[in-house]
Amino acid sequence: MSTLQGLRGRRICLVGSTSGIARALARQLASRGAILHLGARDLEEAGRDARDLELRGGLPVGFSRFEALDLASHPVFLEEARRQLGGLDCVVVAFGILGDQERARRDFAYARHVMEMNYLAPASILSHAGAMLEDQGTGGMLVALGSVAGDRGRPSNYTYGSAKAGLHAYLQGLRGRLAPAGIRVLTVKPGPVDTPMTFGMGFPGGRLTARPEAVARDIVRAMDRGNEVLYTPCHWSLIMGVLKAIPESIFKRMKI
Ligand SMILES: NC(=O)c1ccc[n+]([C@@H]2O[C@H](COP(=O)([O-])OP(=O)(O)OC[C@H]3O[C@@H](n4cnc5c(N)ncnc54)[C@H](OP(=O)(O)O)[C@@H]3O)[C@@H](O)[C@H]2O)c1
Repeated sequence: MSTLQGLRGRRICLVGSTSGIARALARQLASRGAILHLGARDLEEAGRDARDLELRGGLPVGFSRFEALDLASHPVFLEEARRQLGGLDCVVVAFGILGDQERARRDFAYARHVMEMNYLAPASILSHAGAMLEDQGTGGMLVALGSVAGDRGRPSNYTYGSAKAGLHAYLQGLRGRLAPAGIRVLTVKPGPVDTPMTFGMGFPGGRLTARPEAVARDIVRAMDRGNEVLYTPCHWSLIMGVLKAIPESIFKRMKI
């Protein structure tokens, strides 16, 4: 199985399942008959979400504790997810923090935390998940949440953006490495989405801010089609194409 065509019965582990985007995605996957396992650091929240998803999808939903910064626990978490699911077809990595760029500029220990949460920790879980799918020998899929912020460094969020850029490159390499084993890798690059991450930042409700449900719909479609890179909503592909084409000498003077 190289894509997840027909999500019914597919065993999917959502890592960072309490994120706004992951919650919307889980609801859509459950209603399509996927079998879910939720990984979150807050087990009570994960348990509540699991019960809600069971009602929606009519299938049992498992959950277990996932702490992003405890890298040594990642393989143990995945083993538990696989055990509860009875095998694994797909891992979706959705945790992350936006962080505060002003603080990151002044305090590199904090900048390092933002980088660890958005690059090191996702790369770790993806590396273990890729190896697990490879060992299983049944193909499958990895999905990870990057960001349009990783496409070009900007003064307002380059700590977060650089970590996402690293993650995009990591996913590109992983995609090539895992392709011979029939394992797809989907990089999701959302623009601003109305979730707790952007709460109070001014853009929710703005014309360029997407609803998590719309982003989740795009992700499900891309998973179904076996796409490799998804800009969501799709106009971000055009916007980033234009932004990336601006020469550095001009870009550095732009207040964006
Ligand atoms: N929202 C946007 O505008 C936007 C745009 C582009 C890309 N993205 C990316 O999309 C993904 C999801 O974003 P979102 O807006 O849905 O996020 P969100 O609602 O802010 O949720 C963030 C998630 O990360 C989890 N998390 C934070 N620290 C953790 C840790 N140490 N260990 C385990 N989990 C931890 C949170 O768990 P708790 O619930 O326990 O706090 C929560 O589940 C992220 O990778 C984000 O960078 C978001």
